[in-house]
Amino acid sequence: MDEAKQAAQMLDQAQALLITTGAGMGVDSGLPDFRGNEGFWNAYPPMRHLGISFAEMANPHWFDTNPGLAWGFYGHRLNLYRETVPHKGFATLLEFGQQKQFGVFVFTSNVDGQFQIAGFSDEQLEEVHGSIHHLQCTVPCSDSIWSADNTSVQVDAATFLAQGELPLCPHCGRLARPNILMFGDYGWISNRSSDQSERLRTWLHQIPSGKLAVLELGAGLAVPTVRYKSESMIRQYGAKLVRVNPRDTQVPHGHISIASGGLAGIKEIFSRL
Ligand SMILES: NC(=O)c1ccc[n+]([C@@H]2O[C@H](COP(=O)([O-])OP(=O)(O)OC[C@H]3O[C@@H](n4cnc5c(N)ncnc54)[C@H](O)[C@@H]3O)[C@@H](O)[C@H]2O)c1
Ligand SMILES: [Zn+2]
Repeated sequence: MDEAKQAAQMLDQAQALLITTGAGMGVDSGLPDFRGNEGFWNAYPPMRHLGISFAEMANPHWFDTNPGLAWGFYGHRLNLYRETVPHKGFATLLEFGQQKQFGVFVFTSNVDGQFQIAGFSDEQLEEVHGSIHHLQCTVPCSDSIWSADNTSVQVDAATFLAQGELPLCPHCGRLARPNILMFGDYGWISNRSSDQSERLRTWLHQIPSGKLAVLELGAGLAVPTVRYKSESMIRQYGAKLVRVNPRDTQVPHGHISIASGGLAGIKEIFSRL
């Protein structure tokens, strides 16, 4: 039996579906992943010019030292993720997952809010690195996290510098920043993500051992949080794992790897159900 058929059978037999995703999940919706410096610099040419890597750019110190650049990077992404229409695979997963006895939950390192745009509820999602659609204070002066829905940021397309007024904290008037966990970030307010994590734990606890399927899509090796999470489900809950990734295809023995892009992989698996 081929891998896609095995994956379909495994998903069919499960009573609960955990979807785990990294940046690769957005690639078929037209979003860049940041795989290596080349990937990041192709998406953000001015950063190549400045010699700034993704790990260097995703650092809170820019909000102090160069707020226009910091908000250029995050403002551009905020606008991009708002405009992007999730590919059809998201809807396929939602429809399938909702038919399961215990339903579906998402664990993602993506900050793009694409699952919510595709119709998933906030209650069935853990955004482990936070969300660009939520803001916090740079100081931070309080634990407050607020929606970015009323915030707009204009970004100069050539320089990637934010123009005009930048988002401010409504409590102290200092600069605001996205509620995203950055590298070397001691100011990230984790309340929202830890509440989500608690909901995931509660959801997992009700599922009988061996009845959980984990479908992982587009999770890379550079920041392996998502891959570790998927693999920990095997040990903790007797889960079966299907890993969909065009390049980083290694999977623990006894589990399934589909060497394919996210959308093509979903189509391949779900056409065999
Ligand atoms: N949209 C977002 O929110 C977003 C975008 C970029 C990066 N990030 C975050 O930054 C960190 C590092 O990012 P990164 O880009 O190095 O991610 P990553 O390390 O998760 O790598 C991307 C992965 O996606 C795979 N991939 C490439 N094309 C694919 C496709 N069409 N379908 C499925 N998988 C595909 C690659 O093989 C790789 O394994 C992660 O925490 C990531 O979540 C988030
Ligand atoms: Zn403040």
